[in-house]
Amino acid sequence: MRPTSSSSTLRHPSAVRDPTQDQSAADAEDGADAAGTPGAAGNAVAAGALPWELAWQAALYGPDGFYRHHAPAEHFATSAQGLPGAGGILAEAVLALARRYQCRHVVEVGAGRGELLSQLRSLPSHLHLTGVDVVPAPPGLQVDRWLVSPGGAHLPDGLDDLHDTLVLAHEWLDVVPCPVVDRAKEDPAGWRSVLVTVDGQEQPGPPPAGPDLEWAQRWLRPEVERAEIGLPRDRALADLLSRVRSGLVVVVDYGHTAADRPRHGTLTGYRQGREVTPAPDGTCDLTAHVAFDSLTQVTGRWHLTTQGELLRELVGDPKDPVPHHLASTDPQAYLAAVARRAALTTLTAPGGLGDFRWLLAPRRRPPH
Ligand SMILES: C[S@@+](CC[C@H](N)C(=O)[O-])C[C@H]1O[C@@H](n2cnc3c(N)ncnc32)[C@H](O)[C@@H]1O
Repeated sequence: MRPTSSSSTLRHPSAVRDPTQDQSAADAEDGADAAGTPGAAGNAVAAGALPWELAWQAALYGPDGFYRHHAPAEHFATSAQGLPGAGGILAEAVLALARRYQCRHVVEVGAGRGELLSQLRSLPSHLHLTGVDVVPAPPGLQVDRWLVSPGGAHLPDGLDDLHDTLVLAHEWLDVVPCPVVDRAKEDPAGWRSVLVTVDGQEQPGPPPAGPDLEWAQRWLRPEVERAEIGLPRDRALADLLSRVRSGLVVVVDYGHTAADRPRHGTLTGYRQGREVTPAPDGTCDLTAHVAFDSLTQVTGRWHLTTQGELLRELVGDPKDPVPHHLASTDPQAYLAAVARRAALTTLTAPGGLGDFRWLLAPRRRPPH
């Protein structure tokens, strides 16, 4: 099931979209319509159209939801898994941050099958490692603790009272479901909710109200026609922060701020290495870029940077040359250095993984 590196997809459409292959062609080649065969999670939404947030939650985290039965690595690659050499470099960066912020414990929320934690375990350190995901730990994973989580914006009760801890949410918030809205035709200043059926057909719903509407009014500029409301992500992050007494919370995701928010939303589906039309039927991942400007409102102290900048600072610049003399004096070290440089180039590439945002939110004790 795991796609080869040539067919696996990074969930960063702007970095990987192939303009020569349109979506319908990709779906047809896949042997399925845009929705695929509805999974059992579809039963929850089959009766009719639901607001996207509810349909999305059922499709990913319901009893037969996508993430209860599929490892992320079966469907797409991330900086943590699926790209040769990248996970090891990411782990080095996390270790460097843990040292800088005097953390003895690393928790990964949305740990997948523990790929990044395994890389961390292989580095020389005495870090206590905890994984959190919606399924039990895979057999043989070398971590100190693993918590099974309800999924989406909800975290397990056992994740609490964390001290001297670096909590990493690497591509978690983009799979926290949220409402989708678009501009009301009759009133360009207003919004309406987008409803969706299990096969991905959308229809207009009622106007958003209360905090959802306030979020849209505060964070969406007039040129935005359609968007995901980031409020559930803001609340999920606030909940996570409330569980960490000292250390650092790190959110890594693809995202936007008001200055570069996409005008037509970013909700996307991924199935078996392919980008597909998003349908809440339990057969594909559903993801949307994260609004980082609204997230910073819940963090207190924060620092927002890009993966490119931070990795160059923490683990090295891919522009640094590999010493040529190694080729004759130590060919193995030379090949390893060339491979590492290639992985670092991928992780820091502008227009690709290098544009991922890293939000650092220190808790209490400052670094020395
Ligand atoms: C996009 S994948 C990222 C996996 C991994 N961090 C990586 O970068 O390869 C998102 C992961 O978050 C998990 N997840 C979603 N909501 C969660 C929650 N509330 N608590 C823990 N894990 C969650 C999903 O099950 C899935 O494994």
